[in-house]
Amino acid sequence: MNLYLAPMEDVTDPAFRMLCKRYGADRVYTEFVNADALVRDIASTTRKLTIHDEERPVAIQIYGREPEAMADAARIVEQAKPDFIDINFGCPVKKVAGKGAGAGLLKDVPKMLEITKAVVNAVHTPVTAKTRLGWDEHSLFLEDGTPFIVDLAERLQDCGIQELAIHGRTRSQMYRGEADWTLIGEVKNNPRIHIPIIGNGDVCTPERARECFERYGVDAIMIGRATFGAPWLFAEMKGLPAPQTMAEKVAVLKEHVLASIAWCNDERKGILHSRRHFAASPVFKGLTDFKQTRIALLRADTKEEVFQIMDEIVEKWGKES
Ligand SMILES: Cc1cc2nc3c(=O)[nH]c(=O)nc-3n(C[C@H](O)[C@H](O)[C@H](O)COP(=O)(O)O)c2cc1C
Repeated sequence: MNLYLAPMEDVTDPAFRMLCKRYGADRVYTEFVNADALVRDIASTTRKLTIHDEERPVAIQIYGREPEAMADAARIVEQAKPDFIDINFGCPVKKVAGKGAGAGLLKDVPKMLEITKAVVNAVHTPVTAKTRLGWDEHSLFLEDGTPFIVDLAERLQDCGIQELAIHGRTRSQMYRGEADWTLIGEVKNNPRIHIPIIGNGDVCTPERARECFERYGVDAIMIGRATFGAPWLFAEMKGLPAPQTMAEKVAVLKEHVLASIAWCNDERKGILHSRRHFAASPVFKGLTDFKQTRIALLRADTKEEVFQIMDEIVEKWGKES
């Protein structure tokens, strides 16, 4: 069961990737890294190329809209020695897709293919790509009835990518509605496709992960949001040892806080960075009369305060979960 940690901006930093790896992620991805900023050697961007041997195999993801800049960026990325260089053809946000990068390239397939070829030719590292089903609901099928993504997958394969990850939504869906896995399954079932296909979208439980492998035959599943505040999800899905009690899970979350502080090299920033995980963590869901404590947890801005509130939570609610 190949389970990958999805690339997520501001989330999949080394601290979080390392924890996911420890709990069974078979591959981790950096957040997307802007090609132009890499070429201009912007320090805050090049820092995103930091990877460690313990997290391998690791993919560094890049995005951009010009083949030349993307090839140059890929050469820079290669020096960081990732196991894969992944191209982002899926980001739906306006500042990216609206400028013709990320999912914006779903509207300009020739350019997307040009970028892919340029990157593949620029480096020796295996190149992979991540995309969506199409631009919007009107462009899901070509005139002859072939699904857009089935055709696109073949063309990307012809450009020399080694694997393709597909998020089962269109650009215009952003993150709304439910991911549609049937078209991902169609790509996988296309006899002309021989590269591994990675399915992505709304996989949150071990049952759903099993169902997606069995029903759609994908080679791997990529998991994003369900890992927030739950890096042990991979272990749960694989039936590997995972923290069971609230106390055990909170200990992992504390470790994440410390690792975030170390990565940010700043206590307050590290805690701010961890908040998204506390806010979404299944550990703090459904607890009786929890509202005030939750607010306090999300307001705390020193390590001591966060840890003290977490200890109180275990004390008070530990038996409930
Ligand atoms: C906060 C956040 C940041 C994301 N950043 C990226 C990114 O940098 N690159 C990328 O390819 N996808 C990015 N995504 C999309 C995820 O990789 C994934 O495709 C999407 O969340 C669907 O998977 P899920 O339902 O398992 O979360 C991001 C998603 C979220 C929620």
